[in-house]
Amino acid sequence: MASSISKVYTFGFDNTLKYMRAYRENRSCEFAESLHQELGNTFRLPSAKGNGVQTCDPKNVQALLATQFHDFDLGGRKKAYRPLLGQGIFASDGKTWEHSRALLRPNFVRNQIADIEVFEKHVLQLLKHIPRDGSTVDLQEVFLHMTVDLATEFLFGESINTLQNETLGTMNEFTKNFKISLAGLLIRTLLGSLRVFHGIRNDKFNNAISETRNYVRKIVKRALEQRELRLAGKAEKSENPAQNYVFLYELTNQVQDEDVIIDQLLSMLIAGRDTTAILLSMTFITLSRREDVWNKLRAEVLALEGRKPSFEDLKSMKYLTWVMNETLRLYPVVPLNIRTATKNTTLPRGGGPNGDLPIFIAKGSDIQWSTYAMHRLPEIYGEDAAEFRPERWEDLRPGLAYIPFHAGPRTCIGQQFALTEAGYTIVRLLQEFESIESRDPEPILKRVGLTLSSANGAKVALTPVKA
Ligand code: HEM
Repeated sequence: MASSISKVYTFGFDNTLKYMRAYRENRSCEFAESLHQELGNTFRLPSAKGNGVQTCDPKNVQALLATQFHDFDLGGRKKAYRPLLGQGIFASDGKTWEHSRALLRPNFVRNQIADIEVFEKHVLQLLKHIPRDGSTVDLQEVFLHMTVDLATEFLFGESINTLQNETLGTMNEFTKNFKISLAGLLIRTLLGSLRVFHGIRNDKFNNAISETRNYVRKIVKRALEQRELRLAGKAEKSENPAQNYVFLYELTNQVQDEDVIIDQLLSMLIAGRDTTAILLSMTFITLSRREDVWNKLRAEVLALEGRKPSFEDLKSMKYLTWVMNETLRLYPVVPLNIRTATKNTTLPRGGGPNGDLPIFIAKGSDIQWSTYAMHRLPEIYGEDAAEFRPERWEDLRPGLAYIPFHAGPRTCIGQQFALTEAGYTIVRLLQEFESIESRDPEPILKRVGLTLSSANGAKVALTPVKA
């Protein structure tokens, strides 16, 4: 996208309708990118709330996330997510958010990421759902189950173990209610200020929210009781030493308010579940279409000589890191995001006759940025920006033009956890299977909900290593 054309254009009503259509047809990522190609890296985006802006300019995104962090907040997201997440980290700003961040982050760092044996336990469950006779499997579906099983074990201290069911379609009550709740949060996000009508006589949504929170409440109550017993010197020793790090138990040492803990646990679950599953799905969709990448990655995995990977192994696997980087570049799990201006301010670029001067941002207006378009900018990634080429990471240093986990004070807390979980799962699958075949002839259809996903799933067939 040449910056010479990055003038500020008015985004017409017809474009808004086109955006909505693209969204329904799972083309909104591509549509955002095409708008930037046509209108420049930054253009005006009028909305009911005033004259907002859409951008994919790394300078502007850097300002939003880091250098001018205090000029922007989450805007409508807080109210949209509140029924499920209350004041949790994912739905709060200002002092409340700062408090959550200070509470959660040290636990995450201290933990040095869940025990690798826990990853192995869930990978073994995952393997049971991958056919070994060449029939088709939708890996996206299986990964979504694995990541919720693993996240609940790590966060709550007890997994909901959905992969232990024979068939994946059978959801337990918690997953069913969580799914309905997430669908409701998405609708509330899309409704904007009309969301006030969403909860009215919406028994399905309201029940799902209270059931989800009640499920977690029972677990939190038990953990608080255990803590009391521990303090009184009456607690039983953990029966499962592999499980000795549990996020909830760490949290109860710092805060004992049930609702505060529930808000944070559900925030972590929402942030950590689909995201990692999508990274895995997009990786395997790509591998099933790119034999060359599969072969190179497998060569690196075979160097482990069948040994299960340790943290150190995962860290030192260069090609694996490049593949995950490249997947997150082309398929960023959060492809589009919004912040709202907390005061009259400017962003560094997009104003003036050539779009290279600061652009005025009025208090209350929404700034939408397309990470998807930014990750494909030819001026950063070259003319082959749209191509999946892991080798580009050998010497590519895109700085804040590459933000799959965002950046600045609100950068993702779970980055290391996610990369370890995904890396471990990828390596283990490549140890178990010698080849992969795509069972989906169509181009990848990118659905955008609370996160990106593949609208057609990740349909592949895998051939097991010969015994
Ligand atoms: C590949 C996997 C993941 C990706 C791509 C990802 C990406 C992101 C992004 C882009 C944000 C910023 C959202 C925003 O500010 O609007 C975020 C925030 C967050 N992520 Fe992740 N995430 C992943 C996995 C995880 C995991 C596994 C966890 C925890 C178990 C987690 C916990 C969080 C939390 C708590 C926040 C909110 C941070 C804050 O607002 O201060 N994420 N993540």
